Amino acid sequence: MTVTHSNRLATPRSARFWDRIASRYAKRPVADEATYQKKLQMTREFLKPHMKVFEFGCGTGSTALAHAPHVAHIHATDISAQMIEIAKSKAGDAGIQNVEFEQASIESIAANSAQYDVVLGLSILHLLDNRDAAIAAVYDMLEPGGIFVSSTACLGDHMKIFKLIAPLGKFFGVLPTLSVFTTPNLIESIEDTGFEIQAKWSPGKNKSLFIIARKPL
Ligand SMILES: C[S@@+](CC[C@H](N)C(=O)[O-])C[C@H]1O[C@@H](n2cnc3c(N)ncnc32)[C@H](O)[C@@H]1O
Repeated sequence: MTVTHSNRLATPRSARFWDRIASRYAKRPVADEATYQKKLQMTREFLKPHMKVFEFGCGTGSTALAHAPHVAHIHATDISAQMIEIAKSKAGDAGIQNVEFEQASIESIAANSAQYDVVLGLSILHLLDNRDAAIAAVYDMLEPGGIFVSSTACLGDHMKIFKLIAPLGKFFGVLPTLSVFTTPNLIESIEDTGFEIQAKWSPGKNKSLFIIARKPL
């Protein structure tokens, strides 16, 4: 792998929050199985056996492990060491060898050059202080024609109250970093970076927005 890590450290407070809840997160059933399966299927339409995939905020690795049989290699990363421990153990149990799990924050990763065919960022862009920087990093690490798949809670659409709650929740350690923005804000961030949106799907009100975007050739 030629991805290098910059000197910036992962946000320790954020990592601690996710470390604390990792084992509960791993045991929690998927909230809406039909929606999850549809997102896997929509993603799979863009996957090919020769492809190299990068994932950030991979959590306990379920999605990387589900896609693993359909691509050559997946480099899956997460800020939480505990999430990565669980992901590695799931990969071992399933005998899956083409997924490399690594603890790393998206902020600490700097791509040397475009090298991935697909980047996955699922349930993560609204958990970052700077989504635009993350989207720009994704753009840089993709080959021309590469695909960025994201699923994002646009809390500003229906739950503006989070603008008030989020800083308090973070201060008291009961909420992670939460960034409140709307669907148009997110689409603007993705398009302004240079991506062309290929598919956009929202399963319903208050549901995460699923976007598949392409870096132009
Ligand atoms: C809501 S979970 C989503 C996990 C997985 N993508 C899924 O869809 O189930 C968010 C994940 O993002 C990770 N995370 C939070 N901030 C991060 C950051 N700055 N860089 C990388 N991962 C981060 C957390 O540790 C957590 O595992």
